[in-house]
Amino acid sequence: MNGTFYITTPIYYVNDVPHIGHAYTTVAADALARYHRMKGHKVFFLTGTDEHGEKVQKTAAVQGITPRELADRVVTRFQGLTPALDITNDDFIRTSEPRHYASVQALFRKSLANGDIYLGEYEGWYCTPDESYWTDLQLVDGKCPECRRPVEKRKEPSYFFRLSKYQKPLLDYYEKNPKFIRPESRRNEVVSFVAGGLNDLSLSRTSLTWGIPVPDNPGHVIYVWYDALTNYITGVGYPDGGPLFDTFWPADVHLVGKDILRFHAVFWPAFLMSAGVAPPLGVFAHGWWTVEGQKMSKSLGNVVDPYEMVRTYGADAFRYFLLREVPFGLDGDFSRKALVHRVNSELANDFGNLINRTLGMLGKYFGGTVPSPGAAEGADLALVSRSREVMAAVDAAMEELEFHKALAASWELVKAANKYVDTSAPWALAKDPARRERLGTVLYNILEAARICVLLSAPFIPAAAQKMWEALGCDGRVDAARLGAAGAWGGLKAGVALPKSAVAFPRIEE
Ligand code: MSP
Repeated sequence: MNGTFYITTPIYYVNDVPHIGHAYTTVAADALARYHRMKGHKVFFLTGTDEHGEKVQKTAAVQGITPRELADRVVTRFQGLTPALDITNDDFIRTSEPRHYASVQALFRKSLANGDIYLGEYEGWYCTPDESYWTDLQLVDGKCPECRRPVEKRKEPSYFFRLSKYQKPLLDYYEKNPKFIRPESRRNEVVSFVAGGLNDLSLSRTSLTWGIPVPDNPGHVIYVWYDALTNYITGVGYPDGGPLFDTFWPADVHLVGKDILRFHAVFWPAFLMSAGVAPPLGVFAHGWWTVEGQKMSKSLGNVVDPYEMVRTYGADAFRYFLLREVPFGLDGDFSRKALVHRVNSELANDFGNLINRTLGMLGKYFGGTVPSPGAAEGADLALVSRSREVMAAVDAAMEELEFHKALAASWELVKAANKYVDTSAPWALAKDPARRERLGTVLYNILEAARICVLLSAPFIPAAAQKMWEALGCDGRVDAARLGAAGAWGGLKAGVALPKSAVAFPRIEE
């Protein structure tokens, strides 16, 4: 990263509609993208859909439509997450787009030309009704793990990628880039997998039609993971190159779920190395959500629909809960009760009340106009240095993608400000006309601390932050503010009359 930041989400399969798992990665990527923009970095944030392959072809067949019709229908549900969850992605890629065909075929050609892709024969257990290959390990009692019908040994011609050749280059890359795979525990997992030896990887199928054809041999369709991973370079203009590619590639971080880490941390860098393209700088694997203690599944009927969450609780509340509840990288449990509890106690009580009661006192004692601060006392200086410490703690946490820590740190400032209100007791100062200047100083400091809290919360709860920003009389959009300049103490302008608005973060009725 050189003042630039390229972040991606996985591209989502269109054989199903979005659930909390999709929303989670997208929201995390958005918070990080917003934070980096506020640091003044040039950001590119890509998300999209994975539209080819067996799963999509089969789902379409079941519904009696073409895979393209299915993709066109379902893609809108994923694109709709952008406005619904307040996401600021710069582009949305669909693997069925012509630009992506060109990119995948160009990458494939490179490795074909240098001998890393060769034509061979794929052998596996084939389930004819399901049109799927399975390995020995995947079979259940010697039968198809999906439909439990008998399978037969079958061979077909297939292109292979010389993954075995990349064992050493990959291990070297992991060693030279200790932060390539995060969190640390996952890194060890991948390193031992690669150290255990790598088999060449089958890269094409003749038994599948819905996908990108192998260049000059269209009877073969390219393996869906090769196709899907390549979206990350298509999105910045591969193979043509140009300013977007030069500015943003290699990507800073691919956010992925733990189940798809291996594809990103092993296959993807190997494909790129082979084609002479720089591997990404980082991959971060997050954990999985259970729902009320149970695995999320259609058959249990407990799938969390992000649209329903937004309708019921609002995007800010849902975003806040996802990133505050569970350390990014660990598994966690979703429950409505936990969400409501966090929102009411942390957003409505702690944060909302700080803003509300401060604005209330400002109206009462100063007619709503921000007073000038006078000489600082010990408690004031302590609040100022607390704010500085919190800004630094948030920055360190965001660097490590520790969203829960960044939020916890910001809430330390909310709490410090609430405590400062209690110990400075403006209501007592207000009774003594001789202490009017002190009253002004205290109110100024509370407002200023609140302003910095709002600034730090903007990547997480963008809509509420904007409202509070305006309520504090700050100009423009909070997400256009720069943390460096706007985060410095004393940014609030004295003499400004604040708009009369009730801005409390509303409590959710249980
Ligand atoms: N299309 C591939 C990704 C290709 S990226 C080049 C894919 N798509 S997916 O739609 O099935 O899954 C997308 C993401 O959802 C994965 O990162 C997966 O980890 C995540 N999740 C699916 N269920 C989840 C939970 N219950 N909790 C959190 N994330 C989960 O895989």
